[in-house]
Amino acid sequence: MIHTQNLVQLFSETRQLTEDICKPLGIEDYVVQPTIDVSPPKWHLGHTTWFFEEFILKPHKQGYRIYHQDFAFVFNSYYENVGKRVIRSDRGNLSRPGVTQVFDYRHYVTAEMKEFLQQGVPDSLMETLLIGIHHEKQHQELLRTDIKYILGNNPLLPALNTDWIEHPIERHQTDWITIPAGIYEIGHAGTDFCYDNELGKHQVYLGDFQISNKLVTNAEFIEFIAAGGYQDFNLWHADGWTWAQENQITAPMYWHQIDGSWHYYSTSGLEAIDPEAPLAHISYYEAFAYSQWKDCRLPTEFEWEVSQKHFNWGLRWEWTESAYLPYPGYTKAAGAIGEYNGKFMVNQKVLRGGSVATSPVHTRHTYRNFFQPELRWQFTGLRLARS
Ligand code: AVJ
Ligand code: FE
Repeated sequence: MIHTQNLVQLFSETRQLTEDICKPLGIEDYVVQPTIDVSPPKWHLGHTTWFFEEFILKPHKQGYRIYHQDFAFVFNSYYENVGKRVIRSDRGNLSRPGVTQVFDYRHYVTAEMKEFLQQGVPDSLMETLLIGIHHEKQHQELLRTDIKYILGNNPLLPALNTDWIEHPIERHQTDWITIPAGIYEIGHAGTDFCYDNELGKHQVYLGDFQISNKLVTNAEFIEFIAAGGYQDFNLWHADGWTWAQENQITAPMYWHQIDGSWHYYSTSGLEAIDPEAPLAHISYYEAFAYSQWKDCRLPTEFEWEVSQKHFNWGLRWEWTESAYLPYPGYTKAAGAIGEYNGKFMVNQKVLRGGSVATSPVHTRHTYRNFFQPELRWQFTGLRLARS
């Protein structure tokens, strides 16, 4: 059970960190949406606020007055149960509500929430409240990666003073970890917060396998490029090959070849690639092709979960071979909250781990992140496995 004071503190710190992430932004940076998967920072600020207003304050705080009638329409992301909303691709066209008003909305809802929390949260509401807080943490990571995309796709490649290091190095030698065949437990245990997609603890049988103790590095991936990996259709899925051809993909996102040497954009600006740093910003398709080229494969999400205690993780989201599917016995909550994860369990791949952009105390070894296989703007990398 979480104490009222700890809950108020967790809530307040989370609200504050979101605003701190935006500190280096200029006013124009808050508004643009260079591609459909990237939301304007202003929209993240409003959406995470709306979540508390819609699911906590409106139904549960006595006498609560909503801040503005139109804001549910503007800041609802994908909840069909809640009503009509601005289509996703139009988020960048909203010059109003302005940044100042969105911050005012945030501060109003934050103050109302603190007042509400001080009165003590009934047990029946705790789950929704924690989802709201963890939801905002998820959006903190999206904010960081969306800010990077907004700047990294500006032809001027502007630098920004950010609070995270994009290219930390794993210093140890690469080695294989050997895991014996057996029946293993998968899924979240215990009483700490987790999402519904981690529940349904169950057993799986795994054959003998080996998994690398280290993420694939930039130097290793440069060898793949130099060997013609992007031109060899035998390494690719049909969908991956079509994607690479149609989009003329010949390197990870943010990579630039300048005078014959590879550089990448990081939020500190354009820099020479650090060969020792873990590879980032690749699609599942590229992760798969690389693993084929190495005569290896990607681990399944179960292999990853079983072996994770033997290696360090958290620098990159790691593509797995697993489709994002419900665990046995998965149940969706009724109504809007049931839309949170369950309706996305088709045509996406699971990623495990965490990344340099993940907020503190957010990920865990049972956490299931998920994205469509072609997406690259998160800090995505890979770890090899073999049977
Ligand atoms: C788990 C990162 C795929 O980006 O839609 C945000 C997180 N869920 N708001 C997403 C999320 C609801 C989610 N991912
Ligand atoms: Fe959201």
